[in-house]
Amino acid sequence: MSMLIAIDGPAASGKGTLARRLARHFNVPHLDTGLLYRATAAGLLQQGVRLDDVERAVAVARGLALTDFDDDQLRGREMGEAASIVAAIPEVRAALIDAQRRFASRPEGAIIDGRDIGTVICPDAPVKIFVTASPETRAQRRALELAGRGEKVDFAALLADISKRDERDSSRSSAPLKVAPDAITLDTTALGIEEAFAAALQIVSGRAAR
Ligand code: CDP
Repeated sequence: MSMLIAIDGPAASGKGTLARRLARHFNVPHLDTGLLYRATAAGLLQQGVRLDDVERAVAVARGLALTDFDDDQLRGREMGEAASIVAAIPEVRAALIDAQRRFASRPEGAIIDGRDIGTVICPDAPVKIFVTASPETRAQRRALELAGRGEKVDFAALLADISKRDERDSSRSSAPLKVAPDAITLDTTALGIEEAFAAALQIVSGRAAR
């Protein structure tokens, strides 16, 4: 059986770090699906088009290649916010489904992280992990990450961002953020990167043993 792991969770929960770490450990390709929505938003902003222009958003989403993302440009705070706006457009989500499922069905396996991987993109994934942490912990992690990239950080603003994004991602009608019934929740509030990784490995081996 090839290895397919679906990782979902709210903003700055540590799912990206965990997914990259697992991908390295198992030597399988990793897709950060947040980058698809970030790149769609970036394309619209570049064209000077509104983020709610459905037709243009779909055209940008369809034209994305999964590989050539400029991470640095896409990872900033503003692009995360813009991404969550385009991600609420059902037509944009639909335009990105095939590419994500193709990635998931690679013979060598895949580790995919996002908001709807275990619920919509790969409902049959044998391993699903829902990564979460308290909003304060997530804001702290985001503050460290942004400071590391040289962005100015204001903790209160980041915490407000996170609550707004949680609300938007969970309440949208199309593929809202929610825990798949067969996902295992991993709360990383009190866990460092290595501890979270060890806990995830246990979840993976527990699932493989069933
Ligand atoms: O870690 P953070 O949430 O800041 O960033 P991300 O994972 O790159 O996601 C950015 C935004 O894209 C999220 O707030 C979601 O609205 C959206 N997204 C989504 O709707 N579905 C996905 N599979 C991945 C991201």
